[in-house]
Amino acid sequence: MALDLNANCLPTARTVADLRDQVKVWRADGLRIALVPTMGALHIGHMSLIEEAKKHADKVIVSIFVNPTQFAPHEDFDAYPRTEKTDSELVKDHGGHLIYAPSGTEMYPDGFSTSINITGITNGLCGDSRPHFFGGVAIVVSKLLLQALPDVAIFGEKDYQQLQVIKRMVADLNIPVEVVGAPLVRDEDGLATSSRNKYLTAQDRQQGLALHKALANVATLVKNGKTAADALKASEAILNDAEITSWDYFEVRDASDLTLVDGPVTRPARAFIATQVGKARLIDNWPIDPA
Ligand code: PAJ
Repeated sequence: MALDLNANCLPTARTVADLRDQVKVWRADGLRIALVPTMGALHIGHMSLIEEAKKHADKVIVSIFVNPTQFAPHEDFDAYPRTEKTDSELVKDHGGHLIYAPSGTEMYPDGFSTSINITGITNGLCGDSRPHFFGGVAIVVSKLLLQALPDVAIFGEKDYQQLQVIKRMVADLNIPVEVVGAPLVRDEDGLATSSRNKYLTAQDRQQGLALHKALANVATLVKNGKTAADALKASEAILNDAEITSWDYFEVRDASDLTLVDGPVTRPARAFIATQVGKARLIDNWPIDPA
């Protein structure tokens, strides 16, 4: 086994073979293993996934891979923050056990030709505004799961549609891993934590606070008896007051199958938003109880 060992950092596996060697040793000891897939630039949202992982397993692997196939050519693949050393220290501080940080060619060697197309649950929301996105997520997540073969894999509700897509894919492909969702984590001011928040100026950040305020307002109005469509319409004022006048989506959808809800909310639902703020595309979502 050739793990990268660095003073304050965790051991880091850079190849599938090294990852599997470590997993094999843990398996021989009868230990349960969790995988937390990430693209790095880790923050408290990611740390909450590690905390969740520790509840389900003895050993926690955090993968760090900025996955090129989920970025369109005009998106921020090159600019995406890469902070592996501090990421590794953070994971160590929070009780993780191994970083898996493969290279681009380890994940996508010459001749790589496979794709995964998930239908239905990928319609709408980020599936519409980033058409390439879920294909890229599906291929990289299926590879990570098959490379590590953990007992459990943890994903955040911050990327709520992504979590549902991954659950669908794992069930459809009989990947022998339990997928666990973890709640969305916010900073004290209410902004959903995200690696892309690093792109925000102080002024952008102020503007970004309108997202969760508008979503929370939708939930309150629905609770008071408004239809989803009326609640959304009324909450646009909060976005407009922050000079947010366009968005990829601002919608209410069923919490489990993600079908669009316009009328009265009779089952658990969620309000979703995605919009550009400064240099960052921000997404957020909020639970809605039926009226
Ligand atoms: P990334 O954006 O790094 O997120 C990794 C995981 O952390 C995802 O499951 C995401 O939902 C979760 N996460 C991010 N911010 C969170 C927050 N504020 N609260 C709770 N969970 C949060 O999502 C990806 O990477 C990639 O698409 C990936 C699944 C790794 C595939 O490349």
